[in-house]
Amino acid sequence: MSKVRIGTLAVALAAAGGLILSLGPTAIGQVAEGDVKKIADLIKKGDMPGAKKAAEAFAKSNEMLDIMNAFLEPKKKGFTVVGTTQGIEQVLLKIGRDAPSAANMTKMADSYTDMGYTIAALGLVTEAKVPEKDVGKMTRKSWLEAAAMTVEAGVKLAAAAKNKSPADLKTHAAKVNTGCANCHTIHR
Ligand code: HEC
Repeated sequence: MSKVRIGTLAVALAAAGGLILSLGPTAIGQVAEGDVKKIADLIKKGDMPGAKKAAEAFAKSNEMLDIMNAFLEPKKKGFTVVGTTQGIEQVLLKIGRDAPSAANMTKMADSYTDMGYTIAALGLVTEAKVPEKDVGKMTRKSWLEAAAMTVEAGVKLAAAAKNKSPADLKTHAAKVNTGCANCHTIHR
């Protein structure tokens, strides 16, 4: 390939890169955090029907894998849990195993509260992603039950954080983890 051709290729690649960036977050396997936050805020306000509707719309325009990526660590496209450098999945595993100290609970109360509502929001989106048909063991029922568990436990985790209760936080983090695992065992 001549130098000129390589130069042309580089320009073409740069243009393609620009195009991908201009298509927004979904084009690079990442969901828009602001949109998830809007769903989380509706749950926080107690508007579950509104949150469900927003989650259904969100589910239509986002891929399952990209939705799940939100749980990963920040460098792998996940959301950052404020006050840490970690993602939701990592923090959930930690606080589901060991309840946070009183000092950490005080410092992290707002962040864990938001995390709980974000989990519930992503749970609602996951619920809306239920497959259309049962395939062997992969039933709609098992999907919906696991998703509902993450929603419910996410809301309770938020309440535990707001009440600054390390023991309750641990209980509900573990429950969220069970919801994740129940679905993954069958459907992932
Ligand atoms: C109702 C089903 C369901 C629930 C609940 C669920 N997941 Fe998933 N998860 C999936 C499926 C299906 C995949 C595989 C998606 C794919 O490959 O397209 C997946 C994949 C993942 C991945 C891999 C992403 C990647 O890029 O490889 C992570 C991380 C993950 N889930 C985290 C979680 C966490 C954390 C929770 C709970 C808070 C959770 N999931 C709850 C169904 C679920």
